[in-house]
Amino acid sequence: MKEQLIRETPAKVYLVLFSLSLLLNIFFFYQQFFSQSHHLSPRLGSTVSDLSWTRHAAEEAEAVAAISCSSHGRAYVDGVLDNGQPACECNTCYTGIDCSVLLSNCSADVEGGDPLFLEPYWMQQAAKSAVVLSGWHRMSYATTDRFKSLELEKNIRRLHAAVGNAITDGKHLVFGTGSTQLLNALVYALSPENASSPSSVVATIPYYSMYKEQTELFNGRDYEWEGATAKWRNSNKTNFIEFVTSPNNPDCLLCDSVLGGSSVIYDHAYYWPHFTAIPKPADGDVMIFTVSKLSGHAGSRFGWAFIKDENVYNKVSNYLQYNSMGASRETQSRLLNYVKVISDEIGSNADIFEFGFNKLRKRWQRLQALVNSSSRFSLQQLSTQYCTYFKKIRDPSPAYAWLKCENEEDTDCAEVLMKGGIISRGGTNFGASTRYTRLSLLKTDDHFEMLLQKLKPLVACSDENSSEMISSF
Ligand SMILES: Cc1ncc(COP(=O)(O)O)c(C=O)c1O
Ligand SMILES: *[C@@H]1O[C@H](CO)[C@@H](O)[C@H](O)[C@H]1NC(C)=O
Ligand SMILES: *[C@@H]1O[C@H](CO)[C@@H](O)[C@H](O)[C@H]1NC(C)=O
Ligand SMILES: *[C@@H]1O[C@H](CO)[C@@H](O)[C@H](O)[C@H]1NC(C)=O
Ligand SMILES: *[C@@H]1O[C@H](CO)[C@@H](O)[C@H](O)[C@H]1NC(C)=O
Ligand SMILES: *[C@@H]1O[C@H](CO)[C@@H](O)[C@H](O)[C@H]1NC(C)=O
Repeated sequence: MKEQLIRETPAKVYLVLFSLSLLLNIFFFYQQFFSQSHHLSPRLGSTVSDLSWTRHAAEEAEAVAAISCSSHGRAYVDGVLDNGQPACECNTCYTGIDCSVLLSNCSADVEGGDPLFLEPYWMQQAAKSAVVLSGWHRMSYATTDRFKSLELEKNIRRLHAAVGNAITDGKHLVFGTGSTQLLNALVYALSPENASSPSSVVATIPYYSMYKEQTELFNGRDYEWEGATAKWRNSNKTNFIEFVTSPNNPDCLLCDSVLGGSSVIYDHAYYWPHFTAIPKPADGDVMIFTVSKLSGHAGSRFGWAFIKDENVYNKVSNYLQYNSMGASRETQSRLLNYVKVISDEIGSNADIFEFGFNKLRKRWQRLQALVNSSSRFSLQQLSTQYCTYFKKIRDPSPAYAWLKCENEEDTDCAEVLMKGGIISRGGTNFGASTRYTRLSLLKTDDHFEMLLQKLKPLVACSDENSSEMISSF
């Protein structure tokens, strides 16, 4: 209804926008004077009528946010212009000026780990999540602690304490351009210089492929990619750098190191209550986290690592200095706000973890119900577990489905899915067999619904005899 309004009668649009802006003004006015809101500090006590240089930007942001993309896409202030205004960018399989047209012959793209399942959360929190930066905001290379925002550091530590997913006391903190930048920074820092043989960088199959790709790309003198831990379990070699991804990407199981006596890099990208129970706080000497899977802001490129050892910390700091001179200061400013919102809303009805958990749990249950209805495919086994964050036994809510093709002739599972119109990430990317493939459950509702729609006939086709069971979906 709203879409039609906007397309047919532009004058009404302005009326709607004007009323919206009026409402917002009243809202902010109310916040300013009648609530103990901490979002506007008393020192910044200008009333809305005093706004001068932010007005244009704020109006532009709201006007673009109000462009209707039929809930199958969105417009951004920096989008490609179409008739002078940013065009809708549509979800896969949708097209048209307002993304209202469903393409008939289109594959479900569940290949990547884009965390768009959290987009509706931030839309619901529109007022709390907006950030305004001036044109002269932090032009310097330096911020409050050289390359690092001290307030952001403080709030990240506060968030871990509130969630209970990591012990951060007595550990140094570094910021990276995504946790991706920190992977090699840590491999470099943990490799002894001039050792008689280079450190062996290893991970347990199925593993996130970036560890291998990056280690091979940088091709350092002091370390080399040595593949699967299984190969080394009974060897007398000691100088390993072991990546432990917990919960793991792709199978989402909580994991620990399998090679003793090695340096361990714990990648806790998914160790948040959206994706897993938190049985106890992680306490590794080297632990990586990323905002990409916490708040969903993958495009901001921001990750962090806690490092116990001072020498390792110094080497990582050097690496970051010579590699990029630290993470973007704009990104740090924007994320400061999100990390605060996430902490402040813990336990409220705007708790991001509750939101993420509920969404992913429902998706997992629906996918499981479908896959269970025949024997053609199977999924990783995940169990309910006590979670210290929710203070209860909770269902699984994984970020990915690790799908196995059970039919003897379906030797390449990604290929089987591709023929059925599903783009997935095949097992060999994770060092595993082609019998497996990974489905992302992290993307938009559109992606997930399309996945189920395309998977249904594939599941049904396992054998004619189970057709009655299938018809219930
Ligand atoms: C296990 C794991 N670690 C690290 C990353 C990289 O995240 P980013 O560079 O966005 O922080 C990902 C992304 O999917 C991941 O799955
Ligand atoms: C589109 O349809 C054609 C023919 O009907 C088919 O060959 C092709 O694989 C389809 N493409 C997708 C993406 O489903
Ligand atoms: C490693 O070797 C290089 C060149 O031989 C030397 O300059 C450097 O100091 C050595 N580093 C350590 C930690 O011994
Ligand atoms: C490790 O084992 C290999 C054989 O597997 C042996 O040749 C080598 O001497 C051993 N090294 C040490 C330090 O024990
Ligand atoms: C699907 O099957 C698995 C394994 O047998 C079982 O644990 C799970 O509860 C089933 N889920 C649904 C939704 O049927
Ligand atoms: C279907 O069931 C019948 C009888 O139980 C069996 O003979 C037949 O092989 C089954 N078909 C398939 C494809 O499994």
